[in-house]
Amino acid sequence: MTTPAQTENTVFPPSAETVARAHVDAAKYEEMYNASISDPDAFWGEHGKRIDWIKPFTTVKDVNYNFGDVAINWYADGTLNVAANCIDRHLETRGDQTAIIFEPDDPNETAQHITYKQLHGSVSRMANILETMGVRKGDRVIIYLPMIPEAAYAMLACARIGAIHSIVFAGFSSDALAARVNGCDAKVVITADEAPRGGRKTPLKSNVDAALLHCKDDVKCLVVKRTGGQTTWIDGRDFDYNEMALEASDYCKPAEMNAEDPLFILYTSGSTGQPKGVVHTTGGYLVYAAMTQEITFDYHEGDVYWCTADVGWVTGHSYIVYGPLANGATTLMFEGVPTYPDASRFWQVCEKHKVNQFYTAPTALRALMGQGNEWVEKCDLSSLRTLGTVGEPINPEAWNWYNEVVGGGRCPIVDTWWQTETGGHLMTPLPGAHAMKPGSAMKPFFGILPVVLDPQSGEEISGNDVEGVLCIKDSWPGQMRTVWGDHERFQKTYFADYKGYYFTGDGCKRDADGDYWITGRVDDVINVSGHRMGTAEVESALVAHAAVAEAAVVGYPHEIKGQGIYCYVTLMNDREPSDELLKELRTWVRTEIGPIASPDVIQWSPGLPKTRSGKIMRRILRKIAENDFGALGDTSTLADPSVVDDLIENRANKG
Ligand code: WTA
Repeated sequence: MTTPAQTENTVFPPSAETVARAHVDAAKYEEMYNASISDPDAFWGEHGKRIDWIKPFTTVKDVNYNFGDVAINWYADGTLNVAANCIDRHLETRGDQTAIIFEPDDPNETAQHITYKQLHGSVSRMANILETMGVRKGDRVIIYLPMIPEAAYAMLACARIGAIHSIVFAGFSSDALAARVNGCDAKVVITADEAPRGGRKTPLKSNVDAALLHCKDDVKCLVVKRTGGQTTWIDGRDFDYNEMALEASDYCKPAEMNAEDPLFILYTSGSTGQPKGVVHTTGGYLVYAAMTQEITFDYHEGDVYWCTADVGWVTGHSYIVYGPLANGATTLMFEGVPTYPDASRFWQVCEKHKVNQFYTAPTALRALMGQGNEWVEKCDLSSLRTLGTVGEPINPEAWNWYNEVVGGGRCPIVDTWWQTETGGHLMTPLPGAHAMKPGSAMKPFFGILPVVLDPQSGEEISGNDVEGVLCIKDSWPGQMRTVWGDHERFQKTYFADYKGYYFTGDGCKRDADGDYWITGRVDDVINVSGHRMGTAEVESALVAHAAVAEAAVVGYPHEIKGQGIYCYVTLMNDREPSDELLKELRTWVRTEIGPIASPDVIQWSPGLPKTRSGKIMRRILRKIAENDFGALGDTSTLADPSVVDDLIENRANKG
């Protein structure tokens, strides 16, 4: 795999047809971008009107980026309801239009087309059920569901009554789930009996049962029937969604929420062992998600739009549910995986539902590219107009394959760079405005002021053809507001290192033309198959095992996953390395966190390279994992330099 940044100099301008159709062409981009930067209040005041307000806002931006006093407010005196924006306001004009297409894991199971009217009924019923269970405005609800329509109902039902949802990806283990239930003190967990995926089933309800053993006694569980594979049931604690939905009223009045009331919490990984609860609020988030969905993908009325992410990640929040539904789009929810029953699945779904915009992760493209072109070529992909990628840098091979084989050279590719924290895209080419460069996130979205800082001095580096850490100079409406229950941590994580800026944790280059290239994380976060993971989380899981004395985890280049998980493990004195123990540790991490954190390589390491003050030198461990022994740098500050020779000699030849 070639590294992404700037290995490819070919530029792909949009076709005349794309430019003619696009909401935003090159001139309009310049005009709008300049307006958004020179007068953010006027710009966002205008675009804030794209959603419906109960009480219109009279203030737009009220932001303080100063460390110690960080406070971010947008449209602060406006009131609205997100569910009403995503459903009710469309009823008159597009009540019978499909809001959600549900494509099940098994292609033989019938797809569902849920109209806006039906969505209104289902969301209202779910909202009324939650109220019956005692959920009130401001309460937290955990959603641990497969990619089924009920996941969207659950999100919108919470939004309707003003409850704050926190989705836990269905691939997380019961331990990870319990930590999140407790972290936000949730009242209810919404789950399903089982999650079918790729022909296999994950026992979600059993995971919830195990998790709730570690939570407060009064946490209730609402269970959606998906497969019928339910086993245990605790009366009084467990509630049957399907039964209650038969009785529940299909009308629920949307609660009037303040623009700055929290809409959801989403736990994400950082440099420390504990995932943090990223808080997004109601008004600014919705404006930003909706606007980026429309403009980045060049979405037009009547289009069928498909984002293949899971609602467990931020991409699913902004670009499966909130953005598209606020725009009255038809959004596709896919329960399965790209390779089941075979490597043609994505493309068959595109053909079947005549998808116009398709948004996926580079890891999926790399996996599919390896299966050969015939899986794509046998499908009719003529409906496709815009292709998108997200989650990690895309390497030029995968970009070219996406462009030529999937897009037939006709479709612009939007390489969207953003984060859980940012709520929506911060940098991306726009289909009709920018000539694309494979692997480049190109240009800032409206209102975004990216700056490249010198990592040592923290000074802004001006001019082009420069590299450094990526910060954002000013706020935008979709920005996270705080870390749930820990505003201090919010400030320390994002505003302490480079005062006066939002620090993204990513490195970047600004090329000679002024276009941006993301070079990857500069902190201890790795990106495995587009899933963000803190190396510290995996380390904490490993050292929690009785046989492990110490562990250090780094990322290393992986053909398909982008980055793999490489673990250096020092065992307790009385333990010997063995294949059994290796397997046991893998299973252990899967149980502690989830299958996505499964170590790719475990290297037994009698010693780890440390400075004399005891700090592990990860830089060296990264180099060894990358098989790049020539560039170890200065090892003279190590307490025991011979440790490094030992690690190189025994470098695991796997992965
Ligand atoms: C990385 C996902 C390069 C980046 C929406 C970021 C990317 C982290 C891209 C956030 C991209 C995301 N090119 N890198 N187009 N998109 N990233 O919070 O390192 O799961 O900081 O949000 O993914 O991951 P998260």
